[in-house]
This record gives sequence, structure tokens and C-alpha cells, in this order.
Amino acid sequence: MIKLCVLGTGGMANAHAREFKKIKGVKIVACCDIRKEAADKFAETHGIPGVYTDLKEMLEKEKPDAVTNVTIDAAHYPTSMEIIRRKINILCEKPLATNAGDAWKMVAAAKKARVINMVNFSYRASSALQKASELVRKGAIGDLRHVEASYLQSWLASAGWGVWHEKPGLLWRLSTKAGSKGDLGDIGVHIFDFMTFVCGDINKIDCKLKTFDKGLGTDTINGMKLDANDSFCALVEFKNGAMGTIHSSRWATGHANSLRLRVFGTKGAICIDLDKSWGEFEVCIGKKDINGFKWKTVKTPKTPNIYQRFVKSIRTGKNDLPDFATAAKVQEYLDSCFKSDSSGKTIRI
Ligand SMILES: NC(=O)c1ccc[n+]([C@@H]2O[C@H](COP(=O)([O-])OP(=O)(O)OC[C@H]3O[C@@H](n4cnc5c(N)ncnc54)[C@H](O)[C@@H]3O)[C@@H](O)[C@H]2O)c1
Repeated sequence: MIKLCVLGTGGMANAHAREFKKIKGVKIVACCDIRKEAADKFAETHGIPGVYTDLKEMLEKEKPDAVTNVTIDAAHYPTSMEIIRRKINILCEKPLATNAGDAWKMVAAAKKARVINMVNFSYRASSALQKASELVRKGAIGDLRHVEASYLQSWLASAGWGVWHEKPGLLWRLSTKAGSKGDLGDIGVHIFDFMTFVCGDINKIDCKLKTFDKGLGTDTINGMKLDANDSFCALVEFKNGAMGTIHSSRWATGHANSLRLRVFGTKGAICIDLDKSWGEFEVCIGKKDINGFKWKTVKTPKTPNIYQRFVKSIRTGKNDLPDFATAAKVQEYLDSCFKSDSSGKTIRI
């Protein structure tokens, strides 16, 4: 039996609890949140026996095999280091940290402690993404030339996710004081991982970040200045020489949570659109289709999700991906975006 603790019991923790509860041989023994009422409610909802407001106390009393860290971004580094120090396996939410320096320290600590370490880049659960990555890396579309990636949400323009200025779970995402890196750190991190999983590493970045007026007549709520970016556009060059654009926004009206990637090579192209399907993607490969501008659909069988792969990694002792090192590399891209925006220059990674 794998004894698991959930750290941070806000919105996303519910997905973790639901998924881990489906896995045989895993028991969620306790949860912890600095807000007692949140932890109590979460424990009741998911039938979890142990409830804590102090991480160290939970780790000492429960002696878990693993912790899933679903705290706010700024808490990932200090809390994960505490967990790793005790040689406990860890699944951490994205972004791994709030800067690459801390992220690499987490990588080193996890390596030294020899614990399973994974990061919840949840869109990797898409079998379409898995298959597309395999095809492109095997050379099915030839040498890569041009890439277009986007991740669009609209919670600043729509009440579809709830009214943003009334939801604490959305408010911290708008404030650097709360440790948020804005749209770039929240969902940009996903699309950077999504894109590089298929196209490989990036070596140059130009980026512009933008924080818009929210239309409330104030830029401060509950003492928190709403100063984190809510849109970005980046121009990147990959190590393989291809170029690409990547953009994302919380103002993309009409889109709840849309990820799309198009990759064009010398022998074909692929398009993944998660709004259409997580299990299918489009390809244009072969002379006939390329010359006729024809796209075919590739259907892909379901692949295990991150929660299943994390548990398998604990059981086998073989660390699956994406691990902390994968996420630290993505964190370097985010840091480079900030550097590029503030300096107006191209950043070499
Ligand atoms: N992988 C994904 O697709 C995905 C989706 C949504 C959110 N997330 C990530 O999950 C994390 C949580 O997001 P959320 O939407 O649930 O936010 P949330 O604000 O709803 O919940 C965060 C919880 O963490 C608690 N917390 C903060 N600091 C803590 C600490 N030191 N110890 C214990 N608890 C602490 C807060 O009290 C809150 O209850 C974030 O890092 C976010 O980026 C990932």
C-alpha cells in the first residue's frame, strides 16, 4: 500500500484526490492546508482521515511514501524541499518553482535524496501529444522549419470560470506579491512544455509580456496589486534551427482552455488541437497529401495519466517523465522571457 498525503487543498487538489483514489493500492492518508477550513472540507469531501495545517507535523506523524504538492506556485519550492529532505517521493504541481535557480536546487535535492520526482504537466496525458512527439522526433515530418503554439483562456473576460475578482483561487494568479509569474508562469509553462516535448529544446527567446487594466477602477484588491502579466507573445528559435511563435492570454474571449500546436517540417506537418480531441491529431505527410493540401486524422489509444505514471514510478523505482529536470528547463525559458521583456533583447539560453 502506498501512503499518500495531499499538500494544498484548493481547486486543483480535487483532481489529484479523484485520480489517486482510482488507483488500486494507493491510500490518501492525510491532507494539509494552511487554511484549516479548506483542509477540513477537502478531507470530508474525499474521505481522508488525517487533517493538518502544518506540513512538518503531517510528515512526522503520517510517514507517507509520497506527497502530491498542490500548493500555490510560491509555496512549491520551500514545501517540496522539506518533503525531499525526508526522502519522500514527490509529485509537484507546475510551475516547479518561481525561478530557474530554485528549480535546479529542487532537481539536485531530489537526485541526492534518490526520490521519485515528477511535475504535473497535465497535458502530457494527451495520447495525441505523446504520439505526435514520437512521430516528429523520429523524423516523420523531416527537418523542422516553423512552429506555432498557443494556450488561450478567457477568465478575465468571462465569468465562465466564476467572477475572477471574487475568487481567491484566481486572485493570487494576478499578483507578483503572491508569488505568481502571471499568465506566463500559470499556463505559459504548459505550452512551453507541450511545444518542446514535440520540437526539442529552445536556444533563443524574444518575449513581450503585457498586464492590462482590469476595468475595476483599481489595480489593488485585498492589498494585492494586480501586476502579474496576463498575456504574452514570444518568438523562439530551436536548437534544431526551426523558428516558432508561442502566445497565450487570459483575455482570449470564447476560449475556456485551448491548447494548439502546429509544426511544419520539410516532409510534412502536424496539428494538435486539444479543443477538438486529446486522442486525435492531424497530419499532412507524403507527396500526395502535401501537394493536395490534404490532412488526415491519426487516432491514438489512451495513455496513462501522470498520477498513474507517478505511482508506477514509485513501484518500479524508475523515474518517469516529466521529472523535476524537465520542469527546471522549462523554468529557464520562463526566466528568459522575463529577461527579454525587461531588456528588449533576444536571450540566448
Ligand atoms: N496541472 C494543471 O493543469 C493545473 C491546473 C490548475 C492549477 N495548477 C497548479 O496547482 C497549484 C494549485 O492551484 P489551485 O488552482 O488549486 O489554487 P488554489 O488557490 O485553489 O489552491 C491552493 C491551496 O494551497 C494552499 N496553500 C498555500 N500555501 C500553502 C502552504 N505553504 N502549505 C499548505 N497549503 C498551502 C492555499 O491555502 C490553497 O488552499 C498551483 O501551483 C497551480 O499552478 C495546475
